[in-house]
Amino acid sequence: CFCSPKVCIVGSGPAGFYTAQHLIKVWTAYWTVFCSRKRCISSASLSSENVDIIFFPQCRDLCFFSQARQDVEVDIYERLPVPFGLVRFGVAPDHPEVKNVINTFTQTAKHSRCSFYGNVNVGKNVSITELQQAYHAVVLSYGAEGNRSMGVPGEDLAGVYSAKDFVGWYNGLPSCRELSPDLSCETAVILGQGNVALDVARILLSPIDILKKTDITQPALEALAESQVRRVLIVGRRGPIQIACTIKELREMVNLPDTRPDMVAADFDAVKEALKDLPRPRKRLTELMLKTALEVPGEKEQERRSKASRTWGFRFFRSPVEVLAEPSHSRIAGIRLAINKLEGSGEGAHAVLTGEVEDVSCGLVVSSIGYKSLPIDPSVPFDSRKAIIPNTMGRVKQAAGLYCSGWLKTGPTGVIATTMNNSFDTARSLVEDMDSGTLDVSAAKPGSQSISALLEKRGVKPVTFSDWEKIDNVEMKKGESSGKPREKLLTVEEMLHVAWT
Ligand SMILES: Cc1cc2nc3c(=O)[nH]c(=O)nc-3n(C[C@H](O)[C@H](O)[C@H](O)COP(=O)(O)OP(=O)(O)OC[C@H]3O[C@@H](n4cnc5c(N)ncnc54)[C@H](O)[C@@H]3O)c2cc1C
Ligand SMILES: NC(=O)c1ccc[n+]([C@@H]2O[C@H](COP(=O)([O-])OP(=O)(O)OC[C@H]3O[C@@H](n4cnc5c(N)ncnc54)[C@H](OP(=O)(O)O)[C@@H]3O)[C@@H](O)[C@H]2O)c1
Repeated sequence: CFCSPKVCIVGSGPAGFYTAQHLIKVWTAYWTVFCSRKRCISSASLSSENVDIIFFPQCRDLCFFSQARQDVEVDIYERLPVPFGLVRFGVAPDHPEVKNVINTFTQTAKHSRCSFYGNVNVGKNVSITELQQAYHAVVLSYGAEGNRSMGVPGEDLAGVYSAKDFVGWYNGLPSCRELSPDLSCETAVILGQGNVALDVARILLSPIDILKKTDITQPALEALAESQVRRVLIVGRRGPIQIACTIKELREMVNLPDTRPDMVAADFDAVKEALKDLPRPRKRLTELMLKTALEVPGEKEQERRSKASRTWGFRFFRSPVEVLAEPSHSRIAGIRLAINKLEGSGEGAHAVLTGEVEDVSCGLVVSSIGYKSLPIDPSVPFDSRKAIIPNTMGRVKQAAGLYCSGWLKTGPTGVIATTMNNSFDTARSLVEDMDSGTLDVSAAKPGSQSISALLEKRGVKPVTFSDWEKIDNVEMKKGESSGKPREKLLTVEEMLHVAWT
């Protein structure tokens, strides 16, 4: 059969797009035999290229053994009407350069063998089994849409937010539109010391003049302009050597206008001696922390710091044990932190409770201790402990024809480049399986034809990539008038309205 192998991808974040990019680049090899007197396996006509004449003794006719390379067709299904996942809804608004990957994704989406179907919630509007019936292979790339919870009393009080929701709010994720965080307090505590924690700290403390030139949403901009937050503490359960952020993001904090660092010198006591044994990137990061925490700055920097109206600082060796409520119990008054010591050394050292605690007064807590993938369909294996789909090189274990890529495959860590590499690996596994015959692509499959019919029956109308381009244009035009790169539409209804008119 010369039908194209049909693959569908669930999720249009970096993982979905990089998997699609690699698949449409690769042609799969098909070998077919056809016979001059049609006694042997026959086949459709082929171009004369790649045809070898061979003799099959059992046929005694002249047979042609031909290699035709078939193009893979890729359909991407996305829950939201807009593509690009965390590139749109996660990456900080003041990091526009990171969003340039959208240009590559757009090229992929516009490729003749790639189609985008937004506004399709897989697991709800269509099941994985239905996708498997329609396609030769299904790649799950739906990311990590949940978040790890602290599991401490008071976590649900007003004034406590997950970083996932807080980031979603300032980036225009429709489900977080109504978060309206209360920024009327002076001190905010962020739990976790990864790059997401630093993004949140930077957005809380950035001068409005910087933010208003970004694609941050208008409601977030207005709320931040009125914010009373003047002090942000970024709390980690381990020490400076184990911090999870990277140097570029730390440098941005150090240089953030109108802020000064406020560290605890004693936290760095054992750090200097350990410095020489650290791997280079970690060493440079630690040196910058030491310099920021302990060194007396030059005159100019001293002057800058003395004029700053806001402060930020790391607090190490602290784990959350309870969010403390105001007497009325309606919102938070502070957080109780357990004081830890470290066991072991280097990056692998782990935190052990000392039994002591410390209370910190604050009116805002953002828990930034990691995202978490969730199961979307009971038919798909899911490792609830690791919160990933169990897989070997992207092949879902015990589920032929199912693959996974991105954060769903590895867990919720890694920058876009890491996600790109793991998605290319998954695409390679899939192509290998087609070439080896492990994945049977010999029978024709209906692909989007049957899924579109199913969706229509269920009253679901997909958003195409050119529909998205209409949304994109409207957002950019809206942004232009206020000097922003774009003003995002904030509800699914608005997006659909623009897409279909
Ligand atoms: C706050 C934050 C900031 C970041 N900033 C940077 C940065 O500056 N630089 C950098 O290199 N990396 C950054 N990263 C990391 C980067 O975003 C990730 O590496 C990458 O987005 C992971 O890609 P993914 O495709 O696995 O997941 P996602 O980007 O989350 O994409 C998953 C997609 O699947 C869709 N989906 C979910 N459920 C369904 C469903 N049921 N049906 C259909 N579709 C579904 C989602 O809507 C989404 O579009 C950041 C991460 C976060 C959390
Ligand atoms: N600018 C950028 O390039 C950028 C921006 C944002 C995000 N990203 C990337 O996106 C990925 C996710 O970032 P992230 O910040 O969400 O995750 P992360 O880098 O894994 O950091 C998570 C933080 O939470 C802490 N933590 C985890 N569980 C905890 C618990 N139970 N109690 C207390 N603390 C806990 C971790 O401490 P331990 O180390 O002790 O576990 C760590 O400090 C990362 O790879 C990051 O680099 C990149």
